[in-house]
Amino acid sequence: MRKPIVAGNWKMNKTVAEAVALVTDIKRDLAECSGVDVVLCPPFTALSAVSETITGTQLDLGAQNMHWEASGAYTGEVAAGMLRELFCHYVILGHSERRAYFGESDEIVNKKVKAALAANLRPIVCVGEQLEDRDAGRTEAVVEQQVRGSLAGCSAREWADVVIAYEPVWAIGTGRTATPEQAQDVHAFIRSVVREMVDDSIAQSVRIQYGGSMKPANAKELIGQPDIDGGLIGGAALDARSFVEIVQAAL
Ligand code: 13P
Repeated sequence: MRKPIVAGNWKMNKTVAEAVALVTDIKRDLAECSGVDVVLCPPFTALSAVSETITGTQLDLGAQNMHWEASGAYTGEVAAGMLRELFCHYVILGHSERRAYFGESDEIVNKKVKAALAANLRPIVCVGEQLEDRDAGRTEAVVEQQVRGSLAGCSAREWADVVIAYEPVWAIGTGRTATPEQAQDVHAFIRSVVREMVDDSIAQSVRIQYGGSMKPANAKELIGQPDIDGGLIGGAALDARSFVEIVQAAL
């Protein structure tokens, strides 16, 4: 059985003080969550403080991006080793906002995935179609290309550390969630692509999160779908109560 994974992507929100306050509330309200992997992904500036605040809890730390090189003249960038030093265990890669605003191609995402895995960071690899893709019946073609491109060349051993997040772009921050059926269809399709890329055992074990306007009111039904293994939460992760309720929906 796949263990559900719920991750909060805080995006460019929360100062250090606000981040510590939020995590302190989450810690207090989430007494028991051993049945779910819970990952908090604050901005880089708050990683260290959040890391300290969650020490000794079941909560895990993730970053929202990284560079593929280990060090060097890459102004403004952060390397996998720097994240590991802060006890980061996950990193979100290829989020649609990075693809749209920062020009990240599947090739770039693939380099980052390889670098993350080599540094023992678990990549949460985001894929998802735009509204015009869906309307034109291209959802599967777009998602397949992203999965194949972003995860090309990973060994079966490396796949064990991979998490995929299906985030339809039209559902992100819009309040317009994919229906459980729409999401389930794409999740099952992604699993079939992984089966073709690697093998059935990896396809059965890889965790695929749903992201896009997930909130307490719709989390249970979405996560209850057979191929949906948790959520990547944006807006609702900025509020302790709603994030904790989503985690509880996955328990
Ligand atoms: P929202 O939950 O705000 O729609 O964002 C989803 C997302 O992009 C998580 O990575």
